Amino acid sequence: MNLLSKFVPFFMVITALLGVSAAQSADSAWLRYEGLKKSPTGTPNLIAIVGRSPALFSAGQELARALGTRPAQHGSTASLPAKNAFFLGTLKDIRTYFPNLQPSHPLGPDGFWLKTAQQNGRKYWVIAGGSDRGVLYGTFALLRKIAQKQGVSSLDEIEDPSAPIRWASEWDNLDGSIERGYAGKSIFFDGGKVRSDLTRVSEYARLLASIGIDACSINNVNADPKILGADFIPQLARVAAAFRPWGVRLAISVDLSAPKSVGGLSTFDPLDPQVAAWWKKTVDGIYSRIPDFAGFVIKADSEGRSGPSQYGRNAADAANVIARALKPHGGIMLYRAFVYNHHLDWNDPKADRARAAYDYFHPLDGKFEDNVVLQIKNGPIDFQVREPASPLFGAMKQTSEAIELQVTQEYLGQQRHLVFLPPMWKETTLEFDMHVDGVTRVKDILSPGVSSFGFQVSSKNARNSKLETGNPRLGGYNAVVNVGLDQYWLGHPLAMANLYGYGRLAWNPDLSSEQIAKEWTELTFGTDPKVVDTITRMLLPSWRMYENYTGPLGLQTLTDITGPHYGPNIESSENNGWGQWHRADAKGVGMDRTIATGTGFIGQYSPEVQKIYEPVEQCPDDLLLFMHHVPYTFALHSGKTVIQYLYDSHYAGAEEAATLVKEWKSLHGLIDDARYTEVLKRQEYQAGHAIVWRDAVMNYFHRLSGIEDAQHRVGHDPDRIEAEAMQLSGYMPVDVTPWETASGGKAVACNGQRSCSASTQFQGQPGKYRLSVQYFDQNNGVSRFDLFENDHEVGSWAADDHLPSEKMNGHTSTRHTFDDVQLQPGDTLKIIGHPDGGEPAGLDYVEIVLEQ
Ligand code: GCU
Repeated sequence: MNLLSKFVPFFMVITALLGVSAAQSADSAWLRYEGLKKSPTGTPNLIAIVGRSPALFSAGQELARALGTRPAQHGSTASLPAKNAFFLGTLKDIRTYFPNLQPSHPLGPDGFWLKTAQQNGRKYWVIAGGSDRGVLYGTFALLRKIAQKQGVSSLDEIEDPSAPIRWASEWDNLDGSIERGYAGKSIFFDGGKVRSDLTRVSEYARLLASIGIDACSINNVNADPKILGADFIPQLARVAAAFRPWGVRLAISVDLSAPKSVGGLSTFDPLDPQVAAWWKKTVDGIYSRIPDFAGFVIKADSEGRSGPSQYGRNAADAANVIARALKPHGGIMLYRAFVYNHHLDWNDPKADRARAAYDYFHPLDGKFEDNVVLQIKNGPIDFQVREPASPLFGAMKQTSEAIELQVTQEYLGQQRHLVFLPPMWKETTLEFDMHVDGVTRVKDILSPGVSSFGFQVSSKNARNSKLETGNPRLGGYNAVVNVGLDQYWLGHPLAMANLYGYGRLAWNPDLSSEQIAKEWTELTFGTDPKVVDTITRMLLPSWRMYENYTGPLGLQTLTDITGPHYGPNIESSENNGWGQWHRADAKGVGMDRTIATGTGFIGQYSPEVQKIYEPVEQCPDDLLLFMHHVPYTFALHSGKTVIQYLYDSHYAGAEEAATLVKEWKSLHGLIDDARYTEVLKRQEYQAGHAIVWRDAVMNYFHRLSGIEDAQHRVGHDPDRIEAEAMQLSGYMPVDVTPWETASGGKAVACNGQRSCSASTQFQGQPGKYRLSVQYFDQNNGVSRFDLFENDHEVGSWAADDHLPSEKMNGHTSTRHTFDDVQLQPGDTLKIIGHPDGGEPAGLDYVEIVLEQ
């Protein structure tokens, strides 16, 4: 062996910073580095890299891109540069040049050490990684500091990620659509194939790397078996190649039936040797093309997917046959715990979907191969606005666990509503103490290095022992992200705070939501204190705000669960087998999940946690209706009744949504126009839709309970004129379904006419008014509206949004507002609607509010 190459690895120097022009096809999100090139940071303009892997090269390029402007020069040398320099490499390689440098504790494989060091009268900014990927992560961490204007002249910081599994999942279909995606088409697939242009994939990988995400599963968990076809693997290799420079490894979701549907076998029974052989051959084939392939995600026996139950087998049988094929290559299998019967008997008071995952998986603890990780949604139902932590987190002592979170806001406003999720992830789950072996917070259970929880493997289970195989216990995070071709990746530019927050928490779940919000804002919008204060003030309470105007007290979101999961539809969760029941009736509301009289769900927690939830007087208000069925007059800890809390929280939530508009407007001129306008549009929409939510939920419970709002707001809207009460020409009154999604249950529609009108005479005091027209913007046409005050046109607009329904309902109800309209008593207000396609220019009401 050539000693020189062994002890003095290839040493590449990029001088004078490349000044990569950073052409970026989409918004660069939090990787903007604006201002870094202009203001001197005191850092060197020379980058030295030990080694030549793609990830190391990306690290060097990233520094150059962020800090540099001068033309590129490459060179190589075998000795330390004779000028101040950044010095990048794995710890092992770096110590060849800095024999005296010794970190205070060893680095994990993805960890890094940022260290400033003097040698031969020069200063070096050393970025040492446990691996090449660690170097990349260290580089992003250093740039983060510089962008946040933190001093970097003296550094000695070590960071290691909390967990080995830090994945992103995309629910993309091969045809280019995305299940629960709200930001355009797939960046990966189009027309049944991997896209020819993968520029966006590379850009996405860079974003993921910058927050420490090291693998990405790119297709829908409702997986098309074709992804395992021989013709598809080379296409997947192209995606893996686009990911690789950023240390992101490819993963895919697979369908358990693939041996039959793709492989042509007569069975996919996991215990059939032919099936095992097929998985082995297929997995070997993948690794021959993609040596760093991360593994599979699998959804089986769930929501109609094929599964082991078809052959009388269980999840361990299914997971293990595939895991054994992956194991020799270092691949892992994320087996989803989202297994439940969606044909539950709604009339059975003991039936409970929340119980399903524990009931199914707990008996299988200890029966999985050691490269199987159980992927558990944060709560026992399905990404609702608030759920308790899944009891499974505390129940699988001999099984590795990963949490599944959702960045895409499926039930939480689909990126049309601002909902910053780290506070929810932390408060409801990561920081929740399962009280299993002493203190066992979920974040600790997910972090193999932190807790002693799990893997107390008895000799009888030695086959699964990590100690025996030498593998460390696994654990970690996977979030459903669903970015799309939209310029801002997730639609709403502020929704990217959730992707950022997810990655940062997977890396370090001890970070506070405040830290994350501030950090993201500084990187995304700059360090101007007014901008940072305002945006963090918008982000931090936004989850609670959304909960307040949707489903508080543990009611779950109250959205249309059999439809697009977007607007309100309170009864959609009842009277069917899906099990998202809230059991509201004339007397009371909530699911009785107690051990004493209910479904027994609470019994799946440890005794200490049972004590929190079982006694109705103890149960935290926020989860009361998830755990108990109570009368509307039940007094909460605050003394308020349940029904009055529902009324009050909905009014408070909707008011807060309106203040977000004001907050954002206060940043005019401090944010670039493009992002300012995009966010403003969405905040104005949210403020209007929050009112739709408020009114729907309030009117529903008002009618059902028959209990008045102590403040007489519900059902009293003195500023409103119902469209059906206006003078109509062409427009006809129609019933809206569900009734609670239109004011008074009715609206007017213009069917079979070129245009229709609705007029009313203003009877109030002279003054300046805010006029809001509540109308329905369906996705099967682009109607137009004109608003006149006498003969004067106040304005016109098009119903051209892409809301998820072709009917008048809580998904499509939206508003258009005009400020400062001068009105006199006797003025005629007239709305002319021009229908288009299947959309009848539907109108609900006009609201006329005196400006203060
Ligand atoms: C939700 C979601 C589905 C998804 C499922 C899952 O139910 O609405 O689209 O397939 O979760 O996580 O598997």
